[in-house]
Amino acid sequence: MAVQINPSILSADFSRLAEEAKAVEGADWLHVDVMDNHFVPNLTLGVPVVESLSRATDIPLDCHLMIDDPDRWAPQYVEAGAGSVTFHAEAAAAPVRLAREIRAKGARASMALKPATPIEPYEDLLPELDMLLIMTVEPGFGGQAFLDIMLPKIRRTRELIAKHGLELWLQVDGGVSEATIERCAEAGADVFVAGSAVYSASDPAQAVGSLRDKAAR
Ligand code: DX5
Ligand code: ZN
Repeated sequence: MAVQINPSILSADFSRLAEEAKAVEGADWLHVDVMDNHFVPNLTLGVPVVESLSRATDIPLDCHLMIDDPDRWAPQYVEAGAGSVTFHAEAAAAPVRLAREIRAKGARASMALKPATPIEPYEDLLPELDMLLIMTVEPGFGGQAFLDIMLPKIRRTRELIAKHGLELWLQVDGGVSEATIERCAEAGADVFVAGSAVYSASDPAQAVGSLRDKAAR
């Protein structure tokens, strides 16, 4: 499993997004948190910002949609230039149809689970996805404490992926730092989102490197 580190621009300076993307050279993807103040109690950015950002950086965009009605909106993020689009299981009306539409438009399809949402009901859906995101905080804000209680869910999900012989990536998001990344990797995650751990560091690119070293150990 190749380790991937995806800095979250939620912790970046929104007035300087292009420069903030350059500051994390060496990152695999740039994680873009889209929030609508309905699915989560916070509001961030939408399609036009993703469109501009995709033109401003060579790092592919990993868009995490924390929004209601992703069935309607997710395809527009592919058109805006996202290389991967994650919708929430709790919000999608027709997740299989949506995953197929995202893939047909040329992006990687991914589904996220909030901390209280179990993986088991979605086992049959895994072959439709390129990535599964397990939230390790309640979605909505950066800088929250990692929920250790999610580790068994990461482990179970990795077992299900192996059982079905899938290539699916397993992403974790929320509270991932030098203190917690090893536990996530040991449980079976291979794609790591880190917001505050990267952008509050004095050298964000170096923070990406040391997270990668810790996860690969
Ligand atoms: C939270 C977002 C995360 C957030 C993570 O709802 O989905 O991507 O940016 O931030 P940290 O790494 O600071 O917990
Ligand atoms: Zn996120």
